[in-house]
Amino acid sequence: MNNNFTNNKINEIRQQADIVDIIGKYINVIRKGKNYVAVCPFHDDTNPSLSISKDKQIFKCFVCNENGNVFSFVQKYKKIPFLNAVKEVADYVGIDFQLTNSSTSVDHTTIKNKTLYDIVKDTMQFYKISLASSAEVNDYCTKRSLTPKILDEFNIGFSPDSNKLIKFLLAKGYKKEDIFKSGVAIEHNGELYDRFANRLMFPITDLNGNVVAFSGRIINKSDAAKYVNSPESEIFIKGNTLYNYALALPYIKKEKKIYICEGFMDCIALHRVGILNCIALMGTAFTKEHLKIFNNLKAEIILTLDGDNPGNINANKLANELLSIGLNVKVVFSYNDVKDLDEFYVKYGDLALVKHLQNNAMDAFDFNFYLANKLKTLENNEDKKAFLRKMCQIIAKMDNEDKDIYINKIHDQLGFSLTTIKAAVDAFKTKEKIPIIKEVKEYQKINKYQDLQIRLLIQMLDSKEAIEIFIDNLVYLEDDAYRKIAFMISEYYKENKDNFDLNCLVADLFTKVSTDFNDDIKLKDALNLIDKNKDKYPQYNKESFKDLIYEITEIIPLEKKLKKISDEIKFADSIEKKTDYINQSIAIKRQLDEKIKKKNGR
Ligand code: CTP
Ligand code: MN
Repeated sequence: MNNNFTNNKINEIRQQADIVDIIGKYINVIRKGKNYVAVCPFHDDTNPSLSISKDKQIFKCFVCNENGNVFSFVQKYKKIPFLNAVKEVADYVGIDFQLTNSSTSVDHTTIKNKTLYDIVKDTMQFYKISLASSAEVNDYCTKRSLTPKILDEFNIGFSPDSNKLIKFLLAKGYKKEDIFKSGVAIEHNGELYDRFANRLMFPITDLNGNVVAFSGRIINKSDAAKYVNSPESEIFIKGNTLYNYALALPYIKKEKKIYICEGFMDCIALHRVGILNCIALMGTAFTKEHLKIFNNLKAEIILTLDGDNPGNINANKLANELLSIGLNVKVVFSYNDVKDLDEFYVKYGDLALVKHLQNNAMDAFDFNFYLANKLKTLENNEDKKAFLRKMCQIIAKMDNEDKDIYINKIHDQLGFSLTTIKAAVDAFKTKEKIPIIKEVKEYQKINKYQDLQIRLLIQMLDSKEAIEIFIDNLVYLEDDAYRKIAFMISEYYKENKDNFDLNCLVADLFTKVSTDFNDDIKLKDALNLIDKNKDKYPQYNKESFKDLIYEITEIIPLEKKLKKISDEIKFADSIEKKTDYINQSIAIKRQLDEKIKKKNGR
């Protein structure tokens, strides 16, 4: 389907549909003066706190902050993809809208880091081809029953020695510094060396399915680390990554269930028995970003971490965090006499594994009692009181019905009176589940350049004049997400010049991002950062706005250039080149100083 054609059609449907009518088909809508209200279906609401504007054709909940237009309502209410929501609305208003199978996914490899994505992708192909070259790795694969089909599906390869990869990449024309930046090589005295020689290579993809890093496993007994991973890079942020996420996503959505395991091989074991909605944490580091990803999925979670004590303790910690944000969680905590899913699969076979998972998934709350007994951490009254506090903290964040069930469980198992338990729960009372998610967002680190862009956009959302200055100066923002937001603001301005309204602009922007770009996590994060900081950062002021533009267009590019040259200096392969780069760097420093002086004198 042609994209423009689709967008026109979607706009036509949006214009034909009345948000009050459509929402009224799903929930009870009450008229209140000029506006309409309803009990919000997106949080545990008792008073009608969802407000629907017929004029603006948007909805917003004043408690949980859920908001959007007619499509996002249907999308969120029915938990279906955007285009399916459009189809449903189209059917109501009698417009013919056919869903095609063609994927509408966007290529997220940004121009900025295209070279790094290319290097990593070529490296993956090189590793795959190299599998055939080593008898040792073939033996190893056979021993672990990694069939050619599985190897191919997971793009598993082999990293040969003697710097063959480096030679291959250089021959393809990649620059040393880019090869280094991609993480596949280490640097010593200006020379590059393979990071992963003689290892079985597992490619790691980002949430959108682009290969961004590798993990290499040793194949022979030695003292070296079992797994070596790529370092973080401009395209690989470990805490944002989950092994197999992109491939599993359609199955997670379909089954409304996700299996979380510890290692690659465990994830592969599940895959082999037909459980495709599975991801691996790659070790046990679990970040707030991960929590956010699971929160967005709203799927039931089955934790299948290792069955040893560390695995159990981690599963318990993770399960409690997931429970606290209202997810349905189960824990598989033991694999008979073996340590993990992969070993279980190898020893007992696929049918046994499927059965084992069916019969051994424990309620995550109950798992707290199980583990405390196993580890003997409930022996005396002090232990019991500490345990009570921990459990009540979790219960405090639950819905009312769940609260009753679990309060009774604690009463039965530990013997505290219901009054005591209820008081302990109340002590942890948090009004909403939302604050946890807020806290998750605060986790993101903002660099200087992002900070400048956020400040700029906050002022643009505060003043028409700022938008005009921005457009007049043809400002280009380098970060995709921020550039997209600036573009949407400019477009809105151009389309609505005559009856421009800041509130409508803000509503339109948030609506667009949560509907048309709902899968663009980076864009959503960027907008959230803007939203979160808008009361902290200064509102529009002409002078400061112009300073921001100057900083972004004149100073930052030079700073970045300088940083790049210093990398070049590190990898220069001759004295002449090195001298040349040093001279360039001095010239840039001089320019930079002048610009800064000019800025201060302005
Ligand atoms: N891991 C790592 N670095 C290590 C050890 C482990 O990054 N030195 C990560 C890997 O992602 C690995 C996961 O932690 O898959 C689980 O580690 P572990 O349970 O020790 O390994 P297994 O998954 O059992 O690996 P294998 O079956 O290959 O022995
Ligand atoms: Mn294992």
